[in-house]
Amino acid sequence: MEYPLILAVESSCDETAVAIVRSGREIMFNGIATQLERHVPFGGVVPELAARCHLETIFPMLEQAFTESRLEPEAIDLVAATHGPGLIGGLLVGLTAAKGLALAWDKPFIGVNHIEGHIAANFLAHPEITPPFICLTVSGGHTELLYAEDFGVYEILGRTRDDAAGEAFDKVARVLGLGYPGGPAIDRLATKGDPSLQLIREDALAGTYDFSFSGLKTAVINKVHRGTQRNEPLRAADVAASFQRAAVEQLTERTFRAAEERNVHSVLLSGGVAANRELRERFEVQGKASGMNVYYPPMSLCTDNAAMIAAAGYIKARRNGPSPLDLPAVPNLQLNEGF
Ligand code: KG4
Ligand code: ZN
Repeated sequence: MEYPLILAVESSCDETAVAIVRSGREIMFNGIATQLERHVPFGGVVPELAARCHLETIFPMLEQAFTESRLEPEAIDLVAATHGPGLIGGLLVGLTAAKGLALAWDKPFIGVNHIEGHIAANFLAHPEITPPFICLTVSGGHTELLYAEDFGVYEILGRTRDDAAGEAFDKVARVLGLGYPGGPAIDRLATKGDPSLQLIREDALAGTYDFSFSGLKTAVINKVHRGTQRNEPLRAADVAASFQRAAVEQLTERTFRAAEERNVHSVLLSGGVAANRELRERFEVQGKASGMNVYYPPMSLCTDNAAMIAAAGYIKARRNGPSPLDLPAVPNLQLNEGF
């Protein structure tokens, strides 16, 4: 079955997003309302507040989607929504809205895994991508390295043993007093710093595909505190650059080793941290050196959005058909689960 026109909703964290996408590729509308300002005073996302903000924003944005795309609800072939992983309150708002619309319009519905959405952001931007490929998904809640034998058929090779990559950026930014969200702030500050501070001596997970960021984060905290105690405060830009260099090295090493061992020629990067300039550059350089095609989404599709949910929903619906209307929201939903 084909589902040419998909309306998608994303509400798993602190962005309320609605999109209309044609044939899994062509973006007709891509609305994103960030709640960032509402959470800034708390230094991170407050789940209950996030859910209330989604509720305020989602219906005006759905109306805007139809006004701006000049499409009518009758034209929609499938309604998609993120059903996990994410914050339960927010997930329920988007999922329930999407199911309600599907029911009212008598259209099929599909639940989408948020991580599959991040991966599929690449397909919107790069239609030439063909499996098999390796994809590194790095966001505020996830650090997953996977092998894709086909679109939608994923084998997890490695994941973080502690903090997610984006979480580590956010925590180090907090230590440096850079505010929330920390990733973009570290990215900017790192361009003015010297990355040669020695933070950790050895890679405890060398040879595996798993990641660890908590040791690196602790090393940053200790180094900053020691500098302050000795009255020789470190330059925040040097700390940012050195932390970022170490994190990027770990991410790049695992990803390209996996690509070589699996003998694939395409490497994808996705998730909020894929917006990081040094990470993109390192992937480009490593890709050229090893003869691999490197893909990442444009900045606007790296962080949470609903166009990526439509793109993933398109693949999944064509492969497995729509989801039942009693599909639950699953905060810790795993890949390859929840059909
Ligand atoms: O994918 P996303 O929007 O939300 C989740 O699903 O988590 O990712 C947000 C994460 C945050 O931790 C943020 O600090 C990080 O992505 N991030 C970055 C950059 N832009 C966003 N991390 C490093 N460098 C960036 N330029
Ligand atoms: Zn995300």
